[in-house]
Amino acid sequence: MTQTNSSAKKPTQKLVVANWKMHGNLQQNAVLLGNFVKHLSSLKHTQVVVCSPYPYLAQLQSLLQNTHIAWGAQNVAKSEFGAFTGEVSALMLADFGCKFVIIGHSERSTAYCESDENIATKFVHAKKHGLTPILCVGETLIEREAGVMEMVVGKQLDAIINTHGAAVFANTVISYEPIWAIGTGLAATPEQAKSMHLFIRNKIANLNLDAANELKILYGGSVNPQNAVQLFVVESIDGGLIGKCSLYAQEFAEICLAAEQSAA
Ligand code: 13P
Repeated sequence: MTQTNSSAKKPTQKLVVANWKMHGNLQQNAVLLGNFVKHLSSLKHTQVVVCSPYPYLAQLQSLLQNTHIAWGAQNVAKSEFGAFTGEVSALMLADFGCKFVIIGHSERSTAYCESDENIATKFVHAKKHGLTPILCVGETLIEREAGVMEMVVGKQLDAIINTHGAAVFANTVISYEPIWAIGTGLAATPEQAKSMHLFIRNKIANLNLDAANELKILYGGSVNPQNAVQLFVVESIDGGLIGKCSLYAQEFAEICLAAEQSAA
């Protein structure tokens, strides 16, 4: 059952995050970023963020400086430094101006066995070092069909709440990404997304209203220019985390425009 907390307000500014996943190269990125800057710099009600693979973060830093487009990474280590070959810490990301980091994406948690506890530690590290964590939560198709999606997402949130409290969610981002919708072309309906977004915000609002009011909740999973229009007008949806369509300048620009129009 979704709990209700009518005092929880949604933030007004929309947020659209490009998750490039493991795509791109220097040349393609330069063209894509050039188009983003050209078409998205004038947005007034929508913050745009681009998250690339680690090697291209320096390119984002360079090509997006002095623009309104922010940038981020797709993962972070759970430790600050040490003998952890292949890892990159929040301190290192913050060191050269990274502002956002995606945490707990299901493509990582399933392929690399990330536990909810590891994800919670990464989330807190990122926040401690001044990054805005974008925490991904969501259920599998089997879990949705069994009707336990709120229990599953609630448990993912509890891994952070039980160890660090609900206040840690202030000025952070949660992205509801039903696993069955990622890369399938089958997005959640606005009603399904709305219901889960309300569940998430109310769960946090019941523990810490200020944190809930300072939290953005995105929807991710097969967002395209058409369904973005319907999804982003839903009051409880603060924007989107975009995979495939963020690799195409025109489609990504249309998605950002849908966010802008829904916020205006
Ligand atoms: P798609 O938009 O390709 O479904 O990917 C969604 C996603 O995983 C965003 O993080």
